[in-house]
Amino acid sequence: MRGIGLACAIAALAANGSVLAQSPAGNTSSGLRVATTICGNCHQVTPTMPPSAVRSPSFADIASRPTTTALSLKQFLRSNHSRMPRFILSRADTDDVVAYILSIKPR
Ligand code: HEC
Repeated sequence: MRGIGLACAIAALAANGSVLAQSPAGNTSSGLRVATTICGNCHQVTPTMPPSAVRSPSFADIASRPTTTALSLKQFLRSNHSRMPRFILSRADTDDVVAYILSIKPR
């Protein structure tokens, strides 16, 4: 857990100093923060995080699917799911989480 805190701190610092972390639709470093706090209970958000006990895909798996796009993620997060609770995420948080997931998509 320590490593994640550090990674977040570094990400936050990087975000303050530059516009590089900024994608048009959302901010990847605050997306990582939202993801580790809200989604991290059930998903393995970063490869260094221990795999979740819940049977859910890791964010790396989700990101690497060819079908994963900003639109598909936003639709998923806006709708109801049997095994995943429905979140009340602000629009900005949604954009940031989506930007983070897309940022780890293999190119
Ligand atoms: C309480 C546990 C839980 C939390 C918290 C959670 N998820 Fe999930 N999520 C799941 C489960 C379980 C699945 C598998 C889908 C299913 O079977 O319904 C899933 C599936 C997904 C999928 C779809 C993957 C696919 O198969 O296409 C996405 C995208 C996703 N989650 C994103 C998120 C994001 C972003 C957050 C944080 C805002 C989040 N999840 C928080 C449990 C959770």
